[in-house]
Formats: sequence, structure tokens, C-alpha cells
Amino acid sequence: MKLLVTGKQGQIARSLQHVLKDEAGVEAVFTGREMLDLADAASIDRTVKQVKPDIIISAAAYTQVDEAEDNPGQALLVNGDGPAHLAAAACGVGAKIIHLSTDYVFDGKQAGAYREDAPVNPVTVYGKSKLEGENAIRLALDDHVILRTAWVFSPYGKNFMKTILKRAGSGDDLNVVCDQTGNPTSALDIARAIFAIVLATRDGSGRWGETYHVAGPEQMAWDQFARMIMEVSANNGGVSVPVNSVSSSQYRTKATRPANSSLDSGKFHAHYEYKARPVRPAIEEVLSGLKN
Ligand SMILES: NC(=O)c1ccc[n+]([C@@H]2O[C@H](COP(=O)([O-])OP(=O)(O)OC[C@H]3O[C@@H](n4cnc5c(N)ncnc54)[C@H](OP(=O)(O)O)[C@@H]3O)[C@@H](O)[C@H]2O)c1
Repeated sequence: MKLLVTGKQGQIARSLQHVLKDEAGVEAVFTGREMLDLADAASIDRTVKQVKPDIIISAAAYTQVDEAEDNPGQALLVNGDGPAHLAAAACGVGAKIIHLSTDYVFDGKQAGAYREDAPVNPVTVYGKSKLEGENAIRLALDDHVILRTAWVFSPYGKNFMKTILKRAGSGDDLNVVCDQTGNPTSALDIARAIFAIVLATRDGSGRWGETYHVAGPEQMAWDQFARMIMEVSANNGGVSVPVNSVSSSQYRTKATRPANSSLDSGKFHAHYEYKARPVRPAIEEVLSGLKN
């Protein structure tokens, strides 16, 4: 089984590298921008033809949610047109695609957790561009899986958990928003979910043409997540400072995030018997990854 993974410096690609490192029988080619640039159709076509993967893990994306508000053209090019070209190239070599998408395809007005068939209505440029990518893949390739995830943290790259630990290092209290709810999700658990699909496909039981939600099992607000990070850090002899709750109107950002983007991951669990771990042990694992 040969995989082509895009966005090799990203949190999910690097987590996949970690999860796959001791796995025999799965060859993975990790590509960066220099080999496969989502804004350059020719580089996508060339690399997919050269690697000839069985499955493409589409983990690269324009992920700067605030910056995207000022650069809608670039966000759409990378997150909308890029996946369209990737799906066409996959079609050409008979590859399947697992494409990562986001909770930000929802507007956040629903009361409970979103299931896969809930109506989409992105309110940010980033969310709109990611929805374009989802739709382009569905249209171009039957053998696709769209994996929507949320609030990703890991030992790699930039993420909320690393920002909180860094800011806590200054010793000052932290002000964190309390009126946006979602599911913090370890990129390592997302990588394990992707691997579950790969293994099932190798065994002939993979399901394609599906959209899944794969997120941590607990819904919480950012301030609750920050407090949990501080508690786990303190228990491990690390930094810890008090976390004050503030409303998002006190912490303005360019892009207005959905108030509730909680995801229900029940469908993925039912199909693959895999569930992301609760947030606390997931934080522990990421913390130990940061120390190594
Ligand atoms: N992070 C989250 O909280 C979150 C939440 C929900 C869904 N997701 C989705 O999960 C996926 C992976 O997210 P992540 O957190 O792992 O992302 P990430 O850490 O921000 O990494 C994104 C990667 O994409 C690469 N990239 C950007 N533009 C590119 C282009 N034009 N061509 C090729 N590569 C390009 C970046 O390369 P450079 O290193 O060269 O910039 C980077 O390696 C994305 O589809 C994202 O939309 C993420």
C-alpha cells in the first residue's frame, strides 16, 4: 500500500509520520510545497503521476483563518482549486483520496454537535474555501473520504496548546474566550483514524464515498481547554498560570469563528471502531512529545 501525503510540515502530516514509523507494509511519500504545490496544477499532476499512490492523504491547506479574510483569492486557490486538481490527478492514476476538512464549514448556530449530514453554511473565507475543496473532491472522484476535524493540537507546528504553554511561560494570567465551543482533537489521533482507513482498505473493508467527522470526544470552550492544558502541565512539573474567561467580543479577531462547531464522530466510530481519546490523555501525550 503506497500513500502520498501532502503538506509534510503540517501537524497532521507530521503526526502521520510518527504513527507510521514502525508500520511495515505501508510506504508513504511525504511531499512539501517544493514537490506538490496546491496552487500549481502542473506540480500536482507531475508528482501524482511520478509517485502513483494507492491513496493520497490530502493534509496540506491554507490554514490561516484570519489571514484568509484578506486573501480570499489565495485561500480559494489552495483550498478549493488545489483539491480539485488533486482529485483529477488521483483519477488519472486510479488513486483514492482521504481529504482533511474542517468544522468551520458550519455556521455554529446549531445547539448540539454537528453530524455529517447537517447543513453547511461557512461564515469565514477559510470555511468557504474548505467547503469548495470538499465539493470539488466529491464531484471528481467517487473513491474519496472527507474527514472533517476540529481544534487540532499536536507537538508540531503552531497550535492553541503550544501557544498557551508559551504564553504561560511569561507568568502572567491568560485571557481566553469562553463563548466558542468545539472539540479539541489531537493530530496524533487524527493520524490514527487515517491509518484505520488505510488498514481497512488494505483488508478490503474500507468505505469510500463517505464524509466523516473525526474529533475529540469532549465538547468544551477554549478557556476550559486552556485550563485543562494548565492542569496537565502543572501535574507534569511544567508551567501553569490562572486562566481568565473573556467573551469573544473582548478578543476580536478578523474572522468571526462559529460559536458552536462541535462535531459528532459517531459515524466514524460505527464504521471503523476507532474513537479519538479523551482530551486529558491526549494532552499528556502531546506534552511528552514536546519534551522529546
Ligand atoms: N489546525 C486545525 O485546527 C484544523 C482544524 C480543522 C481542520 N483542519 C484541517 O486539517 C488539515 C491539516 O491541518 P494542519 O493543522 O495539519 O495544518 P498546518 O499545520 O497549518 O499545515 C498545513 C500544511 O499545508 C502546507 N501548505 C500550505 N499551502 C500549501 C500549498 N499551496 N501547497 C502545498 N502545501 C501547502 C503548509 O506548508 P508550509 O509549511 O510550506 O507552509 C503546511 O505544511 C487541513 O486541511 C486543515 O484545513 C485543521
